[in-house]
Amino acid sequence: MASTPLSTLATYPSLRGRRVFVTGGGSGIGAAIVQAFAEQGALVAFIDIAEPESRALAEDLAAAGHPAPWWRPCDVRDIAALQQAVTDAATALGGDFAALVNNVASDDRHTLESVTPAYYDSRMSINERPAFFAIQAVAPGMRRLGGGSVVNLGSTGWQTKAGAYPCYAIAKSSVNGLTRGLADSLGADRIRVNTVSPGWVMTDRQVKLWLDAEGEAELKRNQCLPDKLQPSDVARMVLFLASDDGAMCTAQEFKVDAGWS
Ligand SMILES: NC(=O)c1ccc[n+]([C@@H]2O[C@H](COP(=O)([O-])OP(=O)(O)OC[C@H]3O[C@@H](n4cnc5c(N)ncnc54)[C@H](O)[C@@H]3O)[C@@H](O)[C@H]2O)c1
Repeated sequence: MASTPLSTLATYPSLRGRRVFVTGGGSGIGAAIVQAFAEQGALVAFIDIAEPESRALAEDLAAAGHPAPWWRPCDVRDIAALQQAVTDAATALGGDFAALVNNVASDDRHTLESVTPAYYDSRMSINERPAFFAIQAVAPGMRRLGGGSVVNLGSTGWQTKAGAYPCYAIAKSSVNGLTRGLADSLGADRIRVNTVSPGWVMTDRQVKLWLDAEGEAELKRNQCLPDKLQPSDVARMVLFLASDDGAMCTAQEFKVDAGWS
């Protein structure tokens, strides 16, 4: 079974009307997450630097009859702009966010020798720092709501020793630390914090840049399942964790990697 018809997949009544904020939601897995929430009737806000992709996504979802997502061009390296976007989006959508998906990242390749301190900091400012400050921005609203769900996108890449992006690997390994480090204190207010770690997901970018014959062979060698992971496979795990169905899951890492790691 290469793909599952949407009509056979779960719907989550608890997500209808729920406000959700997604970073890096304009393309790739983030766009699939935005779409999946919109299809559940959630009120979605997202930020991204990719303006044409973001605009097209928002227009397509509205044209399909889903609640039109709020979105803004925003570079997450600018923490003040990120936090302002959370505030403005909550105002625009009429209330506090019950779910936050920290999705933004950049897996640009580099070597140990090529990295300068400035490049190192730039990797952390996209792949590590924004998640913490996005949580800081949504937590007061989640407390007002009586709870919430934070999903941090991790990765299995560093866990399987993928070596082409050491700074990305460092940042992605810190996601479990972020999840584990905040779940207890936020849990007292019923704010759940989890990591979703994808395997190799066939976004347009991944296919264009990295899926060559060697990549195909690697997939065959390492995955337990024969099919290629799609962005929607990851989105479905995120939906579960943001919904009331995931009410007692926190401080955990959930892998969607077809058994690779
Ligand atoms: N695709 C995979 O195979 C894979 C594997 C493991 C983990 N992940 C994780 O899943 C998440 C999504 O991955 P993806 O492959 O869709 O990533 P991607 O690089 O394709 O997309 C990330 C999104 O973030 C946006 N973005 C990049 N830099 C930004 C910035 N400075 N400010 C605002 N937006 C910015 C991009 O425009 C893009 O829309 C990431 O956290 C990634 O680490 C992906």
